[in-house]
Amino acid sequence: MKHFLKLIDLSSNEILNILDTAAELKKKQKEGIAHPYLQGKTLAMIFVKNSTRTRVSFETGIYQLGGHGLFLSGKESQIGRGEPIEDTARVLSRYCDGIMIRTFAQQEVETLAKYATIPVINGLTDFAHPCQVLADLLTIREYKGTLRGLKICYIGDGNNMANSIIVGGLKCGMDVAVATPAAYAPHQDILDFAATVTDAAFTLTTDPMIAAQKADVIFTDVWASMGQEQEAAKRKLDFTGFQVNDTLLSVANKGAMVQHCLPAHRGEEITAEVFESHADEIFDEAENRLHVQKAIMYLLMK
Ligand code: CP
Ligand code: NVA
Repeated sequence: MKHFLKLIDLSSNEILNILDTAAELKKKQKEGIAHPYLQGKTLAMIFVKNSTRTRVSFETGIYQLGGHGLFLSGKESQIGRGEPIEDTARVLSRYCDGIMIRTFAQQEVETLAKYATIPVINGLTDFAHPCQVLADLLTIREYKGTLRGLKICYIGDGNNMANSIIVGGLKCGMDVAVATPAAYAPHQDILDFAATVTDAAFTLTTDPMIAAQKADVIFTDVWASMGQEQEAAKRKLDFTGFQVNDTLLSVANKGAMVQHCLPAHRGEEITAEVFESHADEIFDEAENRLHVQKAIMYLLMK
């Protein structure tokens, strides 16, 4: 693994290796055992879109590994004034040891990786949110003891989260069922990938109750992602019926988990009741961003 750009690029073993490394680093951190494996190294963190979790968990994570996180906002750096990504890649490669980027187009991240001589990590694009989904998989494994054979379902927009859950889930041997309105299906590349998988089942439907049937884990995400704010009102109408609520949970398996990458919009994609009754799982999921990203940085930058 040279970069961490999207889960399609990773083998199942590479994904499981990140989860195992994350679990080890988490244990060390909880036991107060220092683990400064990236002493003296700098991670440049480019944020063209907003963030709370990704910024704090990467910055804290690289610090705990003995390194330094450098925050670069799209607006205040030359990136916001149109300096080509190819040049940014080559410049940062002369100073830093890794780059984390959150931006709009997946192509920008791919170009950055092509021109950088240091590892590049995708901290969210319109296409993928691979760090988040590894945190989700770690959380599920902690609660359920395994991944293979479980059924996960995703309800809502076929966005970056949906795309990454489908790939991450299937690569870990989980059955994946997704319910979106017809006009909001996941990316075609993801559906093409899902069609090649033979050792786990993939279902795409427009009926949330079908997707949630006998699910062990229920995921959702906002109906309007960053950059889609002006579509929020239309989306609210288009996603009517795609809410994670008690009725939906009643057809899932007993003890089903609920996961949400956050930030959440209570009363839209999830009810306040369901959110609060699964808050422990959801905030464990948020915490696990720290541990999986430390594992990714360690494996790429050591
Ligand atoms: N889930 C997630 O990526 O959160 P932030 O947008 O706060 O980074
Ligand atoms: N789909 C959301 C995820 C936020 C972490 C977005 O892209 O805004």
